[in-house]
Amino acid sequence: MTIYSKAQECADFIKKHSSAFVVSHIDADGLTSAAIIGKALERIGIDYDIRFVKQLDSTALAGIADNNAELVIFTDLGSGMLDAIKTLKLNAVISDHHQPRGVHEYHLNPHLFGLHGATEVSGSGVTYLIATSLGNNSDLADLAIVGAVGDLQHMKNGQLIGINRQILEDGAKTGVLHYEKDLLLFGKQTRPIFKLLQYSSDPYLPGISGSEDASIEFLKKIGIRQHGEKWRRWIDLEPVEKQQIVSALFQFCLSSGMPATSVQRLIGEVYTLLREREGTEVRDASEYSTLLNATARYDHADIGLAVCMGDRGKSYDEASTLLNEHRKNLVEGINLVKEQGTIRMEHLQYFDSGNKIRETIVGIVAGMCTSFVRHDVPIIAFADTDGGVKVSSRGNYDLIRKGLNLGNAISEAARSVGGTGGGHDIAAGAFIPREAKSEFLKILDSRIGSQIR
Ligand code: C5P
Ligand code: C5P
Ligand code: ZN
Repeated sequence: MTIYSKAQECADFIKKHSSAFVVSHIDADGLTSAAIIGKALERIGIDYDIRFVKQLDSTALAGIADNNAELVIFTDLGSGMLDAIKTLKLNAVISDHHQPRGVHEYHLNPHLFGLHGATEVSGSGVTYLIATSLGNNSDLADLAIVGAVGDLQHMKNGQLIGINRQILEDGAKTGVLHYEKDLLLFGKQTRPIFKLLQYSSDPYLPGISGSEDASIEFLKKIGIRQHGEKWRRWIDLEPVEKQQIVSALFQFCLSSGMPATSVQRLIGEVYTLLREREGTEVRDASEYSTLLNATARYDHADIGLAVCMGDRGKSYDEASTLLNEHRKNLVEGINLVKEQGTIRMEHLQYFDSGNKIRETIVGIVAGMCTSFVRHDVPIIAFADTDGGVKVSSRGNYDLIRKGLNLGNAISEAARSVGGTGGGHDIAAGAFIPREAKSEFLKILDSRIGSQIR
């Protein structure tokens, strides 16, 4: 069986029902997954409701079971809770890419087909496979790619690979997507160019990142001019000006002693949504995914979902307002880690943000910090949450080659202190009881140690 025939099997099962309850994750991948299945169901006349959850634990599952839905479709979550889903006798389809635990009949997951769930296909991607098995839905490829980019699936290779690549080609053929090599810095559609440098965290540009003056100075020195009072956006620049900036950035990074692998991350494939208006967040997959995170991670998944479903009016404006807040919070979070630093154990480093970073974005902050903290061990982050502590972790591909699997390590360490967790080899998370933090760290440190050894 291939992942495609499994997707068809899930689609055929869905078609036997007249209504469905969709449960999805509160991030860009979860929102796009829900929108993809929602649109596909709508087009074949199956009624649906959508609910977003922070994590699928037994409390959330019990609430879902109470709905007595004819069919539950889990997207971008569920693979870590297969046994519990079975125990509750839920009539369910699980469309997810997290490392699985247990078995279930209608479970579509790349790991079951030897594919890598952190780079080859996202939750939105597997859900797209089901959607295209339900009907002629290849126009939804753009949303699938926004989800994959939101999960940073293009970062390892500087471009999308595997199933993601096939979805991308689908989208290009259908005329909804375009891809090309370009500068990877964030904000090319919407921000004045100096902001791209000022907010660059990967790579972190020493002396420039974080400073508006230094960013402007850098551009002036290489002869990039303002138009009157205004700085242009990346998309407004002439090709030669873009070239100039890229080579100046390469030179700058190399001469500040950055390893070549970090410097290379300046350039990569970028994904454009051709149906969207130029100069808006939703034109670029990366900016789109950040816009979505700015909604769902702040209890406003409904707004992000409406944007995915096509609202470019009220919901789009509300999302843009939330985005400003989200950006501010990310900058503050990164600065906090810079100031307080990380605490080193033998096989990991960690920081505890207490109540200063929201639990729903502490993982994004931890990911952005990997560019300036030590690379020889993964980073673990803690944030206070109702009734416990949220844990987030991020590794890198050098450590994974040595055996690191954060999803397994975090899941085992969390379970042994009465929490739950999971995820991917490169990124994982958990919820644990507050008093268990130091015990959890001790177990995690030793688990990671034995993986890398
Ligand atoms: O829950 P979900 O699978 O959607 O999230 C995946 C997470 O893995 C994202 O937060 C993403 O930032 C992280 N990731 C990463 N580096 C990669 C791939 C994924 O930090 N190369
Ligand atoms: O929350 P964070 O961004 O750190 O999550 C990293 C990865 O771990 C994501 O793929 C997320 O879905 C997963 N995760 C999980 N179980 C949790 C928390 C996070 O599977 N309790
Ligand atoms: Zn995902």
